[in-house]
Amino acid sequence: MSLGMSDDGYAANSEWYAALVASWQDDNDSVVGSLLGRIEGGAIVDIASGVGTGLPLLRRLGAERLFAVEPSASMRAGLMTTVAADPDLMARTTVIASPLPQALNELPDHWSAVVMLNAIGHLDDVTRTALWAATSDRLRAGGRFVISLQPPDAVTTIPWTDFGPVQIGERRVATRGQAEPVDDAHVVWTMEWTLTDAVGEVLDQRRASHPWRVLSRAQIGDEAAEYGLSPAEEGGTASFFALEKR
Ligand SMILES: C[S@@+](CC[C@H](N)C(=O)[O-])C[C@H]1O[C@@H](n2cnc3c(N)ncnc32)[C@H](O)[C@@H]1O
Repeated sequence: MSLGMSDDGYAANSEWYAALVASWQDDNDSVVGSLLGRIEGGAIVDIASGVGTGLPLLRRLGAERLFAVEPSASMRAGLMTTVAADPDLMARTTVIASPLPQALNELPDHWSAVVMLNAIGHLDDVTRTALWAATSDRLRAGGRFVISLQPPDAVTTIPWTDFGPVQIGERRVATRGQAEPVDDAHVVWTMEWTLTDAVGEVLDQRRASHPWRVLSRAQIGDEAAEYGLSPAEEGGTASFFALEKR
């Protein structure tokens, strides 16, 4: 089953997504590259690929084949544009439109590496367990799974927080967000994007809300350990880390 248009949680901001994340790309690539190191061929899986901004790095690290899992149709339009702009990426990249856990059925049996950036809180507990089990079965010994976490790492209220504006030509998109607890393991994030013109007149304003499973690095480490995945000791930052298949 894939997400239909009506339940595409990223429809509100997908047209701006590539612009919103552009300034983080070099730093992201640098930390993901140092956590993964050189990959000697095989398949690299990018779960929740978004608009595919991480794919060029995964190719440069040595992926023979890339599998980009992205269930949002609106994000996938950006993903396909990224892939199609580069003939070599287009030859190597298979785009999988199903969400996890269904996407696992479409992924290969052997993975050299896997990444899931800024997305693990979208998974429910059963799906996350299926992901650890599949990773344990398919990732090569010594292979790495790079994860980045988004806040919060404990259930708490986050008041409206400004994530900064991005200038696109004469226009500007401002992003802010707030999170409210819903139970002892989830918050609901509400995000708001405001498009203004050159004199600051508001042209468009959109909001989207989504539940988010709150997870700390320690919780992920404990869960994954049961599936033979241990935190890699070196590299990473407060929010980016790697699990390594024993
Ligand atoms: C914040 S975006 C992150 C995109 C990209 N990884 C990045 O860091 O720019 C979260 C992504 O998770 C995807 N997603 C949500 N539920 C998912 C699921 N069950 N399986 C795979 N991806 C999912 C969304 O469609 C969205 O593209």
